[in-house]
Amino acid sequence: MPVNVGIIGFGTVGSGTAEVLIKNKELISKKIGDEIIIKKIADLDIETDRGVPIDKNILTKDANEIIDDPDIKIVVELIGGTTKAKEFILAAMEKGKHVVTANKALLAEYGKEIYEAAKKYGVGIGFEAAVAGGIPIIGALKEGLSANRIHTVFGILNGTSNYILTKMKEKGLPYKDVVDEAVRLGIAEDPPTLDVDGTDAAHKLAIIVSLISGYPIDYKEIYKEGITHITPDDIRFADEFGYVIKLLAIAKQKEDHIEARVHPTMIPKENMLANVNEVFNAIYVEGDFVGPNLYYGLGAGRRPTGSAVAADIINLARHIINGEKGVIPPLGFSKEEKSSLAIQPIEELKSRYYFRVSAVDRPGVLSLISGILGKYKISIESVIQKGRKKREDDSVPIVMLTHEALEKDVRKAISEIDMLDVVKDKTVVIRVINE
Ligand code: HSE
Repeated sequence: MPVNVGIIGFGTVGSGTAEVLIKNKELISKKIGDEIIIKKIADLDIETDRGVPIDKNILTKDANEIIDDPDIKIVVELIGGTTKAKEFILAAMEKGKHVVTANKALLAEYGKEIYEAAKKYGVGIGFEAAVAGGIPIIGALKEGLSANRIHTVFGILNGTSNYILTKMKEKGLPYKDVVDEAVRLGIAEDPPTLDVDGTDAAHKLAIIVSLISGYPIDYKEIYKEGITHITPDDIRFADEFGYVIKLLAIAKQKEDHIEARVHPTMIPKENMLANVNEVFNAIYVEGDFVGPNLYYGLGAGRRPTGSAVAADIINLARHIINGEKGVIPPLGFSKEEKSSLAIQPIEELKSRYYFRVSAVDRPGVLSLISGILGKYKISIESVIQKGRKKREDDSVPIVMLTHEALEKDVRKAISEIDMLDVVKDKTVVIRVINE
């Protein structure tokens, strides 16, 4: 029997999903042994032509026509937001329908409730498109790497920030100029707040941490910092030290805690992630048996994201066609237990650091700064003070890399440094990794 699907939301991702299901219909049928039929598509705008060859009669403005249709077995939520989307998903599950969603914000905030509903009603939920668009990282973590304890994940999960940092580096331009151009070109949203302040990457990291730990975590537990304070100077100094600055989402499962954080990070130029540029995403994963794995591709866009949504539809359709009982649980764990491993507060992090202090160029200034660092047991690895060209406020950049230090000591030291009369601006702090 063909499997009927209803799609709620006919925007960029909805049309990409419909397009791939229609264009590759024969291939998909050959793979699963039957047809997937898009029975209805709901959207408030049913007039605009999305360039997808569908029968206009399947369009409706009312999502409930999909949720209430007993012939529709899979409901695809692609409207975004956390209010209506949640209502639709829970209502569909209650009616025994499997659900596919691309809604990272919803899962990052209300994952626990949604996964519990899926289990209660015995339905599947696919969310491959919620993290890194076309890259099948959810499938990899849930299935391909299921035998492993995943201890490390480093991800470039936000294409907009990666594009901005790439262009700042290539052109030596300030953040604002690059953002304005990216908005003009339609590459960044206007304004791209949730992309550049780390929220989008934190949503995606929350889903990844839930998958590797087996318990749905709330993204608000994840420390996040965006890229808006990064300057072309920082990018240039990083380059001189042998590093590239990327907005990195980091998860580590340690013996007694989990690290989960999103922030600009200096990574060695030879690290493969340092060469992931423009809007591309990449995820580096390390498991205890598999060792290192690297995933690279497009994290957004109609076709890559449509490909991920369609993959979830295909998996669920296969399950329906085969008449199987019991789907893979939402996070791949039959028993989701609150982990004894808490997320480590950022203050407890041990890391190497880059500081750019804006200080007056006068004898004794460096010793004042290094005195404060010494007081907090922060050891300096190298320092650069290039030239004597002063800025308008009479300051010059003093740039240093530290050995490993404790974040809470760094915070105290930097706030003391920033109170010195000779320091003219807030010190820029970037965490450095050497892996
Ligand atoms: N806005 C996201 C990005 C894509 O810039 O990567 C959708 O998750």
